[in-house]
Amino acid sequence: MSSISQILKNKCLWFFIAFIILTDLLYTVYFNLSDEDLNTIETIDQYSMNIQQRPEDGFIMDTDRVMQECNMRARSVESCLKYLDKKDDDYMITFPLSSKNSIIPPQCKENEPPMLFHVFWRGMITDKLALQIKSFLYTQPLTCSKLYVWLQNSDTDINLNPFAGNLYKKFSPRNVEFRRWDTEEQLNFDDLFKGWKAIMEKHSSVAFSDLVRFVVLNRYGGMYMDGDVLFLRDMRPLYHSGLDFSYKWSFKNEYNTAVLRLHANGTTSRKIISQAMLNKMNFHPFQIRNYLMVNASIPSDSHLAKSIYNSQLYMYSVPLFDPLWLKNDNKQKNILKPNLRGMDDVWDPNLVPNEFPEIGNLSLYSPLELRKADEFFRGAFAYHWHNNWSKNLNPNCWMGVMQTAYDSFLNGTQTNIYGEYVKY
Ligand SMILES: *[C@@H]1O[C@H](CO)[C@@H](O)[C@H](O)[C@H]1NC(C)=O
Ligand SMILES: *[C@@H]1O[C@H](CO)[C@@H](O)[C@H](O)[C@H]1NC(C)=O
Ligand SMILES: *[C@@H]1O[C@H](CO)[C@@H](O)[C@H](O)[C@H]1NC(C)=O
Ligand SMILES: *[C@@H]1O[C@H](CO)[C@@H](O)[C@H](O)[C@H]1NC(C)=O
Ligand SMILES: *[C@@H]1O[C@H](CO)[C@@H](O)[C@H](O)[C@H]1NC(C)=O
Repeated sequence: MSSISQILKNKCLWFFIAFIILTDLLYTVYFNLSDEDLNTIETIDQYSMNIQQRPEDGFIMDTDRVMQECNMRARSVESCLKYLDKKDDDYMITFPLSSKNSIIPPQCKENEPPMLFHVFWRGMITDKLALQIKSFLYTQPLTCSKLYVWLQNSDTDINLNPFAGNLYKKFSPRNVEFRRWDTEEQLNFDDLFKGWKAIMEKHSSVAFSDLVRFVVLNRYGGMYMDGDVLFLRDMRPLYHSGLDFSYKWSFKNEYNTAVLRLHANGTTSRKIISQAMLNKMNFHPFQIRNYLMVNASIPSDSHLAKSIYNSQLYMYSVPLFDPLWLKNDNKQKNILKPNLRGMDDVWDPNLVPNEFPEIGNLSLYSPLELRKADEFFRGAFAYHWHNNWSKNLNPNCWMGVMQTAYDSFLNGTQTNIYGEYVKY
């Protein structure tokens, strides 16, 4: 008896018992939450931050699935982008169903070959080219991504360039390599180009940048992006799909080689180059389909024709890389996010009519309150802004909003769309 009264008097012990009861209670409450409750908590948190999930290593895009949802004869840009943004569970697969060459995608590791991207630029590096380089750094997995910036008649001291100097100091050569373009060395490298000098001397009109993309992709492989194309998403699921690809020229049945993926010394790249060499080195995008169809004596707009050129160079539909083009060309009336009317609107520092249809009175808001980098054409892999080189990059316009997001990521103060901080 005496020992019990001693225990009851011991405040410490009472405290201990109370602690155990409380802990048990909390434990019960927490672990009785169903998986569903926990998922909801997570989802709400992610939604408010608008974080996207990076694709996992080894996952590629099922081209047939995506093209069912993004076939512009049957679907809208709007529904295609929604599908790409929300339904990755449906179209991300672990092995290439639709590709003949079943390659295993490499892992994203330092000692594995990186994704290789290329851009060609003539003249001094401008804020616009720097914008593309930043979009690359902002979206791609930097452990396994490299951008070759091919420069002609450009800066001699890139570290002194006001737009690219910091990028050079921090990211070159690990993620971004600035390389001098040397026509002589490049075109003499492969016998495919034999006779190039004579052709060029005779035809001064050879479009240089149309040519360069085929030269570098044939030699190094990878993906070429014109300087006016922003990276919006991790490209691995496309890059590693095993396909050579490009995309459609608005509503025309032609390629737009502003985005072009070719494998080094591949059948497709060699075929296009050898045909172009027979045709005065004409690498204009509207020639490419003819080159792929050479000797196939069928009408080039038939269904069979489509399967012939697609099997060599897949022609993706416009929204994947150029979400505003069809609306800009008055071919589709889409409510997009952001709901812009055409190419010029991304440079407008003021809100444009009906830019956010869910908001009643736009004049109650400033552009920066509504324009958020993580809501810029979600779902699309790239945004092609079509050569508006002389436009002013005002911080209030959409391009300025993207630039601020890139800069804040690169100076370590904000995360990217994947919720990651930059590592140098
Ligand atoms: C490219 O492939 C062809 C065979 O298709 C081969 O003969 C040639 O040597 C290759 N060229 C290079 C540079 O690897
Ligand atoms: C196409 O046909 C011509 C004439 O028969 C032939 O010389 C050429 O090698 C063929 N080209 C291809 C790419 O098969
Ligand atoms: C929108 O808000 C502005 C500023 O408060 C006001 O002047 C205007 O009348 C409003 N317009 C509509 C259609 O409500
Ligand atoms: C910008 O691009 C659009 C679409 O190609 C074109 O209509 C417009 O004229 C361009 N504006 C400038 C200033 O280059
Ligand atoms: C980082 O960049 C953003 C956007 O340009 C800028 O507003 C911010 O002041 C910068 N922060 C630092 C610490 O440099």
